[in-house]
Amino acid sequence: METMRWENDTLVLLDQTRLPARVEYIHCKDHHQVAEAIRNLRVRGAPAIGVAAAYGLVLGLGGKEFASRGELLARAKEIARELQLTRPTAVNLSWALERMLRRLENTPGDPAFLSRALLEEAHAIYREDIETNRAIGTYGRELIPPGARVLTHCNAGALATAGYGTALGVIRAAVAAGKEVSVFADETRPLLQGARLTAWEMLQEKIPVTLITDNMAASLMARGGVDLVMVGADRIAANGDVANKIGTYGLAVLAKEHGLPFYVAAPLSTVDFSLAEGKDIPIEERDPAEVTHLAGQPVAAPGVRVWNPAFDVTPAGLVTAIITERGVARPPYRESLARLKSVVGRQPPDVGNHPA
Ligand code: MRU
Repeated sequence: METMRWENDTLVLLDQTRLPARVEYIHCKDHHQVAEAIRNLRVRGAPAIGVAAAYGLVLGLGGKEFASRGELLARAKEIARELQLTRPTAVNLSWALERMLRRLENTPGDPAFLSRALLEEAHAIYREDIETNRAIGTYGRELIPPGARVLTHCNAGALATAGYGTALGVIRAAVAAGKEVSVFADETRPLLQGARLTAWEMLQEKIPVTLITDNMAASLMARGGVDLVMVGADRIAANGDVANKIGTYGLAVLAKEHGLPFYVAAPLSTVDFSLAEGKDIPIEERDPAEVTHLAGQPVAAPGVRVWNPAFDVTPAGLVTAIITERGVARPPYRESLARLKSVVGRQPPDVGNHPA
């Protein structure tokens, strides 16, 4: 399964709105198509939309004649802005676009040379995302006891990244290390990323998976059916508050009540060090029709008012550890995340202040 690939000057995206019924790819030839795909969740998940946007910027500049470097740079900023506005919460989107613009600004040469450098940078972001996820898996698998029953929410898998996944990458790595792991996938209303995507992805890999609706998690925990919760993130504030798919916060509260570890797996590019706390993270609100309709069928009283935030914020105090590509951060996160950001290369599996 390939979330996306670059082929013949085209970004080929797996259309995740069609899964699991159909495996269909869309061919994006300009940045407007990429923006549409991100906005409508054909490609989704924080790292994946960052990578797709990077290629979107390449497409936006492709095949155009620019009289000067300055003209190309100005146009690149306009295109980046259009792509950036598609979804506000996942910081990976602006992280990737800013990295692309920096590459442009720091590369001397004529417009044709700059366009090639930009494509190289998008490929680098793609490759590094997969390497990052594998490193997250290597650190994270140590936290998974043999036989663990892991509850996850939304989809933080290969589909949400360039490949391998973050939260599901940890599960993949634990399975690859010979551990028996089973997964409970929250359905994840309203858009069913758990039912449609996580369940599909785990079945493809032959990792045992059981689907539950979101309101079953409490009962499952009360019966002793879960050993730990593992989720991804869309943006993490400097203090360790975590924005992720709506419903994540509820799971963290439940995990605390039942004495279960609550882990977040995310690359350091998901940590927004410019935001002191989670209350400053912009939360996307989406179309009410996502709540009033299921698979295009109306399921709510016509005319009812709807609130449809796509994400929530889990306070750092409920997060047992944050698994990154440079090691496992533990509370207090302001210090442990900053330390991970500042180190170059790999760290020992646990750099936090409190051992497991
Ligand atoms: O609205 P989505 O499907 O893009 O939301 C995705 C999530 O909330 C994921 O958990 C998050 O982006 C982490 S993906 C590795």
